[in-house]
Amino acid sequence: MSRRKIIAGNWKMNVKPSETAALVKAVAEATKDFASVEVVCCTPAIDVPAAVAAAAGTHVGVGTENCHWEDHGAFTGEISTGMILDAGAKYVIVGHSERRQYFGETDETVNKRARAAIAAGLTAIVCIGETLEEREAGKLNEVIERQMKVGLAGVTAADCAKLVIAYEPVWAIGTGKTATPDQAQEVHALIRATLAGLVGAETAETVRIQYGGSMKPSNAAELLAKKDIDGGLIGGAALKAADFAGIVAAANA
Ligand code: 13P
Repeated sequence: MSRRKIIAGNWKMNVKPSETAALVKAVAEATKDFASVEVVCCTPAIDVPAAVAAAAGTHVGVGTENCHWEDHGAFTGEISTGMILDAGAKYVIVGHSERRQYFGETDETVNKRARAAIAAGLTAIVCIGETLEEREAGKLNEVIERQMKVGLAGVTAADCAKLVIAYEPVWAIGTGKTATPDQAQEVHALIRATLAGLVGAETAETVRIQYGGSMKPSNAAELLAKKDIDGGLIGGAALKAADFAGIVAAANA
């Protein structure tokens, strides 16, 4: 089964609307020769219009970093899937560990957001991953399986066309510590096996599983060479077009 590699930037809270067009254009230019790879910039919601305008006519897709599950209503500070689509974005990150850690996101709310995103026709990049404490307590498998089963409850085989899973070990995010390719592959295989139990083995083979956590040009190739690593969700290195393009080049190889 060949799965198209997907490299997505997660800009987090780092780029202003006025800085967005330049970064998207630089990413488009620097990655234009790597057509085998799906390239996405997930930006703060307020940057989406500028990102969509700058990406028009290029191969770069635009997404954002969170969505609410209701269509509209009294949810101050939240953004609906309809708003994201209306602004021209096609992807949304759901359940990032920073949202779980700082904003009370749970597996249940991740599930609601993911299902709403998929139902609306967005591609949901659903993030899972263990903390260092959980890994050291021997709870890795338990945590991953719970995040998958609760976070993806009710997601059908048909929905999987709009699903990307990102494995982001919390201890590797922004720390410069990367999971080794073997450590990452082991968890990616567990994720695919757990997904097979939810939607069937055939469908599970089609779903892309990204690795995220200090991925950079110097370590991307060895991670992406692993059987179940189908791309990357990139934080720090997505803020410089040359670094991001180095990762896309590794995925294109
Ligand atoms: P870093 O690449 O900065 O470690 O961030 C990874 C991440 O959280 C992407 O969502």
